[in-house]
Amino acid sequence: MLSKTILLAAGSAALALSAQAADPAAASVAEDIPAARVHPERWPEVAFPTVLTEAGEARVQAILARMTLEQKVGQIIQADIASVTPEDVRRYRLGSVLNGGNSGPGGDDLAPAQDWLALADAFYEASMDVGPGEPAIPIVWGTDAVHGHSNIVGATIFPHNVGLGAARDPELIERIGKVTAVEIRVTGQEWTFAPTVAVPQDYRWGRAYEGYSSDPALVAAYVGSMIRGLQGPPSTTPILAGPHVAASTKHYLADGATTDGKDQGDAAISELELRLVHGAPYIPAIESGVATIMTSFSSWNGVKLSAHRGLVTDVLKGRMNYGGLVITDWNAHGQVAGCSNASCPRAVDAGIDMFMAPDSWRMLYDSTLAQVRDGTIAMERLDDAVARVLRLKERLGLFDMGKPSQRALSGEYELLGAPDHRAVAREAVRKSMVLLKNAGVLPLQPGGRILVAGDAAHDIARQSGGWTLSWQGTGLDNSLFPGATSLWEGIEQAATASGGSAELSPEGSFTERPDAAIVVFGETPYAEFQGDIASLQLRPELRRPIATMQRLKQQGIPVVAVMITGRPLYVNEALNAADAFVAAWLPGSEGGGVADMLFAAADGAPAHEFQGLLPTAWPATAQHGGETLYPFGYGLRYSHGPRAWTALPEDSGVSDDGSDGGVFFDRGVPASSWSLTVSRADGTDALRVTTVPAEALGGRVRIAATDHGVQEGARSLAIAAHAQGAVIELSTFDPIDLSRETNGDMLLLATVRRDAPIARPLYMSVRCDGEPCGAAVPIAEFGELAEGEWQILGVPLKCFRAAGADMMRISSPFRLMADGDAGLSIARVALGSLSDADAIADCPTG
Ligand code: BGC
Ligand code: BGC
Repeated sequence: MLSKTILLAAGSAALALSAQAADPAAASVAEDIPAARVHPERWPEVAFPTVLTEAGEARVQAILARMTLEQKVGQIIQADIASVTPEDVRRYRLGSVLNGGNSGPGGDDLAPAQDWLALADAFYEASMDVGPGEPAIPIVWGTDAVHGHSNIVGATIFPHNVGLGAARDPELIERIGKVTAVEIRVTGQEWTFAPTVAVPQDYRWGRAYEGYSSDPALVAAYVGSMIRGLQGPPSTTPILAGPHVAASTKHYLADGATTDGKDQGDAAISELELRLVHGAPYIPAIESGVATIMTSFSSWNGVKLSAHRGLVTDVLKGRMNYGGLVITDWNAHGQVAGCSNASCPRAVDAGIDMFMAPDSWRMLYDSTLAQVRDGTIAMERLDDAVARVLRLKERLGLFDMGKPSQRALSGEYELLGAPDHRAVAREAVRKSMVLLKNAGVLPLQPGGRILVAGDAAHDIARQSGGWTLSWQGTGLDNSLFPGATSLWEGIEQAATASGGSAELSPEGSFTERPDAAIVVFGETPYAEFQGDIASLQLRPELRRPIATMQRLKQQGIPVVAVMITGRPLYVNEALNAADAFVAAWLPGSEGGGVADMLFAAADGAPAHEFQGLLPTAWPATAQHGGETLYPFGYGLRYSHGPRAWTALPEDSGVSDDGSDGGVFFDRGVPASSWSLTVSRADGTDALRVTTVPAEALGGRVRIAATDHGVQEGARSLAIAAHAQGAVIELSTFDPIDLSRETNGDMLLLATVRRDAPIARPLYMSVRCDGEPCGAAVPIAEFGELAEGEWQILGVPLKCFRAAGADMMRISSPFRLMADGDAGLSIARVALGSLSDADAIADCPTG
């Protein structure tokens, strides 16, 4: 069986292939797209504060003057700790490292805090180990501390930004920034890729929760506070001299404006809207001296921001006087016309100062060095980029601070999740709750018997959402959150403290009739494109707790619905069924803050008044752009008193049922609008399998039901040697666009079991627009699978793209080809990530 590391090699092969395919002429073409031309003079002039002393600037210039060309190129490259060692940093003089969402010391993203600090020291020492005469330039480490120091076990996890948007409290935001900075300093990093200042306009976007609000004024009102909290006030005092880190506003520009809310997509909007809506937060960001700005994966009118000279150089650095560092997003430069992950001079030319080149850094280093040598990249531009990197380091104080473990706050592990930090998070939870309905059941009176139901009640990962310990926030259980409180635990504490009792029963069953029930339901964690949805509704399996609400209501038990969610969704059935409804967003580690709002004080009056107001409108249907149920700024108060309820129509207004678009085959049956067919390799003699048992190709392929998880949860295929080959395929009439998933390192996962020997290698391929496209990927290790064992086999989508498939028009993501005897069963075919697979297929190298 192949190990997961093979994917990395496979990925590089794919990268190398796309590098060859690149058309250098495309670069100038893209820049000329008229709709993407900007008018810098229409943008506001902004003042970037003085952040370096004269002596500091002189030091930057002196170092620059002594650097070798190799050192300069190394400084503008950031590698991921999963793909770079301290020895690499020493050898290549890399300027920076990051830990991506799934990366951690020693390959363990759940590694203890001590290991993070030790690794920070190791990278620092490697960066300072230079030859005689060469200037030593300390490395800087960036991390996604996007809601607290959220990659670290035991850290305080704050509500995601959508909840903070509801709180309407800039002063609180500053305190959150401060706590986050302190916790980052404990483990030795110096830079966070936060705050996200997206102004989401379409909440189908899987990153919408990372933005505070769809209202530019609200986002802009928060930015300065968060930057001050993280970095301290703009001044010439080194950032690390205080309890601070460098911040980054992202993703410049209009990441929240992409068509249909597609992650990494295109914002097809006017320059006016670009400036007024999405540009608004960058004005306070620049005025607050934000140390870095990250460009977006997305494009504006067809031109990727990672190489948009007009917006990066002319507007941001020119007109808006931005004096900090501009970094690209994760291999985003590889999506620029004419570029690949391994080479992108155009990005530097456009004004990028540092490449986030997680696993591609080595190839990028070589190509960039060559491009400076042959004049493709101008020396002045490189020097400007390097000077900005050095200024960041000088501004942080890195040249004078010594190694990470010697700095203030380092190693004070008791600060991670410290009680006063958690208190700020709990306050944030209280302030972010939005009360949408209260027919009189809230606040819950002291001494009552409370039933707590719903699948999200006792699940800290779920209440924390994506970008928590792991990239997607999945695969985590409560034991990984020491010191945290689930919603259930918070409710239980509050109920008992009031002299009452609480019982947890996810299905809503009870032994003794409760006085009231709290049903916690909603979304499961996701990050980036994996959270993109077609319509504003919960997946069918996530709506089950609504039936529990309806049943409890029929039994005459008052129901309080608490929704865990990254966005407002159509949930009229829940709003109707529950007597009170609270949007809790993604509250994070301090679940007690939810109970604080639900229970009355000893005298029966509310313990805390609701303060949350919707950070964006709540929809009346699942249709984006459809009618609004509650406008931006809506939110009830206890002081308003109970309100009469008029039943809402229970009609989502859309034809899809909210099913996960990434599942093609489940429990042995194709997802709706997908079909399973068996044919010869040339497509003839096709049989669409609708019932089983079935026979195809004159009896040479027999399909039957078999068990997996549930009875008949899979299909078995018995294939007899066949001259023309047999193809088993899942297909749809309307091709789907998998380009984002491909960019995002996703895999096609097939849950399979070998039932009999496999005579000749099986191949997997895809079909584009009805035609077979892209080379077939051999799934050689399949034959090695132990007979009778279920395995999840993954094929990186990049393999298909590297082999020429047009990932934007996939009509069959799964085509299994056999030309010999084989026996296997298939339970599920879906998209997923590296961590979901048991074995990864080898990409053909071409
Ligand atoms: C995300 C960024 C993040 C970076 C590093 C990217 O995929 O878009 O927001 O900072 O990864 O993890
Ligand atoms: C990393 C994330 C990154 C993403 C980009 C993941 O493997 O962990 O940090 O944002 O890839 O596709």
